[in-house]
Amino acid sequence: MQGHGSQGDNPHQHRDFGDLRVIPRAQPRTVLVANAKGGCGKTTLATNLAAWFATRDMATALMDFDPQASSAHWLKLRPDRAAPISGIAAYGRTSSTETRSFRNRLPRHVERVVVDSPAGLTGTDLYARISDADLVLVPILPSPIDIHSAANFIREIEITGALREQNKQLLVIANRVRRNTVMFSTLNKFLAELGLPRVTYTRDSQLYTRTAAEGLGISDLRGAQVEEEKSHWNRIGAWIEHQLQLRQQQRQQMLQR
Ligand SMILES: Nc1ncnc2c1ncn2[C@@H]1O[C@H](COP(=O)(O)OP(=O)(O)OP(=O)(O)O)[C@@H](O)[C@H]1O
Ligand SMILES: [Mg+2]
Repeated sequence: MQGHGSQGDNPHQHRDFGDLRVIPRAQPRTVLVANAKGGCGKTTLATNLAAWFATRDMATALMDFDPQASSAHWLKLRPDRAAPISGIAAYGRTSSTETRSFRNRLPRHVERVVVDSPAGLTGTDLYARISDADLVLVPILPSPIDIHSAANFIREIEITGALREQNKQLLVIANRVRRNTVMFSTLNKFLAELGLPRVTYTRDSQLYTRTAAEGLGISDLRGAQVEEEKSHWNRIGAWIEHQLQLRQQQRQQMLQR
């Protein structure tokens, strides 16, 4: 593995899932990564986005709602020298009231929360996760089965009414893309038909599996070999950040009315 972004030990680091404090004053901005389909890259995108925020010196938390605890496991592997990310193990909560109060126990300083969600997210849980988020990211693999299930998932999100009611945006990221393939164009066509913005894509690359095994994201890496994927993540992260700030402005304008 290439050298990692080294930020030194941070005394404010909260890796221990038990180290939770109560209620931040300003609500952090929250990105939900969701798709009912298993294995489409939710954890990969959630961990990489958290790493991107953290390497931009934003106080970042990664909240894992998946009982498989893949994000929580990734965080345990994260080396001390990497930019700090707080962990919130939110799986295993049974009622929405319980999860909501648990969410409020974020470390005080947190500015960005990335939420990893389980496969099969549906119904009231789906509604609750969207309600807690500012932005919903849906990773989709460019394959016929994945496109089909993504269509059902996006339809279900529409049925919950959560995005419409709360004026939130859903963004699609095509994951594990090999450019100039028929499936990639099929996916783009499908998204255009739904009128959905596809932010961008992530390449199918072993870098993702290798970094995941070390508790790192692409943004933590250094070296010429990773520059292309890293600059790609800079675009993804900057774009998401831009969307979060737009939403923040809209909310402030609404409050001023
Ligand atoms: N862009 C990518 N390039 C290469 N491998 C990838 C990429 N994205 C994800 N993977 C690999 O695909 C597998 C599934 O990814 P991941 O665990 O992120 O999916 P998931 O949607 O979180 O799955 P689950 O529904 O089980 O939680 C993992 O082994 C991961 O390393
Ligand atoms: Mg996962």
